[in-house]
Parts: sequence; C-alpha cells; structure tokens
Amino acid sequence: MPTCRICRFEYEPFISFGQMPLANGFLERDEIPEEHFFELAVGSCRTCGMAQLVNQPDPSKMFHDHYAFFSSTSTRMAEHFRQFAEWILREYASGTDPFVVEIGSNDGILLQHVAKAGVRHLGVEPSANVGAVARKKGINTITEYFDKALVKRILSEHGQANAIVAANVMCHIPDLHSVVGGIKELLAHTGVVAFEDPYLGDIVEKTSYDQIYDEHVFFFSASSVEFLFTQHGLELIDVLPQKVHGGSMRYVLAHKGTRSPSLAVRTQKEREAKLGLSDAETYHDLARRIKRSRADLVALLAELRTRKKRIVGYAATSKSTTVTNYCGITPDMVEYICDTTPAKHGKLSPGAHIPVRPYSDFVSDYPDYAVLFGWNHAEEIMAKEAAYRAAGGKWIVYVPKVGVIE
Ligand code: SAH
Ligand code: TMP
Ligand code: ZN
Repeated sequence: MPTCRICRFEYEPFISFGQMPLANGFLERDEIPEEHFFELAVGSCRTCGMAQLVNQPDPSKMFHDHYAFFSSTSTRMAEHFRQFAEWILREYASGTDPFVVEIGSNDGILLQHVAKAGVRHLGVEPSANVGAVARKKGINTITEYFDKALVKRILSEHGQANAIVAANVMCHIPDLHSVVGGIKELLAHTGVVAFEDPYLGDIVEKTSYDQIYDEHVFFFSASSVEFLFTQHGLELIDVLPQKVHGGSMRYVLAHKGTRSPSLAVRTQKEREAKLGLSDAETYHDLARRIKRSRADLVALLAELRTRKKRIVGYAATSKSTTVTNYCGITPDMVEYICDTTPAKHGKLSPGAHIPVRPYSDFVSDYPDYAVLFGWNHAEEIMAKEAAYRAAGGKWIVYVPKVGVIE
C-alpha cells in the first residue's frame, strides 16, 4: 500500500486509470515513440483526509520552458483573478509597503493587478516560457520552484511577505511539507496565505474525474488542508467556495492565534463529514460512477459514429487527456480538438493522438456534435457559441452526467 505524503500512514487507492500520458504533453507525430506514460491511480488517506495520486511523474517533465498552459487564454479566468487580486490588496495587503508573493504565477494573470497598483511583488514560476510573458508585462518573476530553499533567498532579498497567494498550483506540488514549511518562514507575523484549487467535494459530487491527472497530485478539502497547515503552526481562518474550474475552494491561513477563524471553516468541515469525505465507501461509490460515466460516453460516441455524425472536441484542456485516454477515444471517434492556444496547434493530443486545430477550423466548418472538454469554462463557451447551437450544433457533456445538449 502507498504511504500518504502528508501524514506518512498507509492508504488504499480506490481507482486506477491505467497507463496515462502527461496531461499537457501535446506532441508531434515523430515524438510518439518517446511519449512518457505512468500509472494514474488515486486514493484518499483515512488518517489525514488527503486525496492524492499514488505516482506522479517528475516535475521537470511537466513544468519547463515549453509548458503548454497559459492562464490568460480564458477571459472568465482573467476577470476571476482581477477580483482575487483586488480582494487580497483590499483585505490583506493595505499596510505600508506591503509585499505580495505568488506561487505559480504563470503569465501574470493575477500579479499584473498587484504590479499596476504599485505594490511590491514577486512571482515564482518554474516554467520559463510562461514566466517570460509575465516579465514582459513588467511583473517581477523568478524562474524557480517554490520550496524551503528558495524561501531563504526571497527573505534575504525582499524580506517577509504580507500576503502569499497561489491558484491551481499547491495541488501540483508533491513535497507540500517543504512548501508549507517555507510559507511559515516567509509569512510576516500578521500576514495571510490565500490559495485555491479544485475542491474534492465538487469532484465527488459531480463525478468530475477528469480533474485527476499528472499535475494534480492532491485533491484538497478544508479538513485535509487544516491537518497539513496545523503541523506547521498555521491556522485555517477562512474558506471561500469558488465557481471556477468546475468548483474550487479558496483557503485562507494565518500564523496560529493571530486571527480568529470564521464560522465558514466549521460549517465546511461539517459539510465534508456529511458528504462522507473521510469514508472509504464514498470513494468506492465514486469509482463505480467513474466507470459508469466511461461506459456511457463510449456508448454515446459509438452510436453517433454509427449514424455517421461528425464529432469534434472543444478545448484541448488538461482534463481532456484523462477522458480521452481513460475512455479510449480515438481520432476515428473525435476528428480533432479545437483550441485557442497557438502552442497546441498542429500537435497531437497526449496519448490519444487526436489532432489539435485552431479554433477558426471549428467556426468555418461546424461539426454535428462537439464534446465539451472545456466544461469548466462552460459559461464562457456557451455565450461565445450561440451561433453554433443556432446552426443546429449539439454539445456532448459528461459532467456531472453523460448527455447531449440540443
Ligand atoms: N496560477 C495560474 C497557473 C496555474 S498552472 C492559474 O491559476 O491559472 C500551475 C503553474 O504552477 C504552472 O505555471 C507551473 O509552472 C507552476 N508550478 C508548478 N510547480 C511549481 C512550484 N513548485 N513552485 C511554483 N510554481 C510551480
Ligand atoms: P484548462 O481547462 O486546463 O484550464 O485549459 C483550458 C484550455 O481550453 C486552453 O487550452 C484554452 C482552451 N479554451 C478554448 O479553446 N476556448 C475557450 O473558449 C476557452 C475558455 C478555453
Ligand atoms: Zn494521510
């Protein structure tokens, strides 16, 4: 049995998706023989409540100078991070000469607002290409992994931080004890940490198993986050549910005893207990629902192809890699995946090798059906694609249930 990365007790995996490629490993045809695969399996620790991957590929395989995910491709996310930045500046970084550090700052989607406000800041971003985009926008960014060793350097060059923020990155980092230990040292006495990630409760409730892929090594809940940070003398003082990325949670933490925890923390933990997030049966039931979802999606695609319907994928998201590979979706079933990221164009999707084509290909020749791989951006996409539906185009969805939107 694997050992929990947080509490070091053993835990039992509840599902294996088999051999999977890297979620953002878009590739050229001649790179296929070298493609990296690993076993994607997940479990939830009974002792500390942390849901996690059994194996994760080495971070240097996923985050490098040609990382394919650019945060600023979504306008909805740009608006979300503007609000996140304004909230942190207003609530927690309004003193004299505050200093804000972001972990995993990507192309600067959040920090650009901090920089614009003239506030001292630092982005820590190991993927050099996305970090370079941020630097061009005038955002102070270093190409490094955030860990305890890096914190020593930040402290000597900039001093302690009044706010440490992170989005969709804490759940990517296997050695969280080093990160949280570093945060403890970097954080000023009255400072706060605010980070958000896809929420375990939403995954369980919506059967959104496509949140499970190489980069997401952890699936947090209020209970498991509290368990981890408490070990480092930090206290969970607030939780704020977010609609983005199919259901996320923002966790706010401070040095123990410096701020009083809100009622929301207790209520959320009670909700998690009711939802059974620490019960083995919850995960066995989730595994059953995941398998049913796969069977339903495969049957639907096969039936439509028998009727000679043209099907394409919409948005080559990280999540789509889990769905296409777990369900065995081939280019015969899904002709291509359209996406707005130039770096993905002309490449093949990881593992399933479905061609990724520019968004303009979708608009110039509508298919009969489009699989909504970007379901987490549904609101934005549906608003943008009214003409597709008006022309008779249909959407195939699979979260929370497999179905067709006419
Ligand atoms: N915060 C952005 C980006 C999320 S993608 C958003 O929410 O849109 C995750 C980012 O974290 C990537 O850009 C990746 O390069 C970076 N990352 C991965 N491991 C990291 C680490 N140990 N320290 C800091 N950043 C890391
Ligand atoms: P993510 O779900 O991993 O965040 O990735 C989002 C991907 O979806 C990214 O490659 C851009 C793509 N996308 C589109 O192609 N069209 C859209 O309208 C949106 C919102 C995203
Ligand atoms: Zn544990």
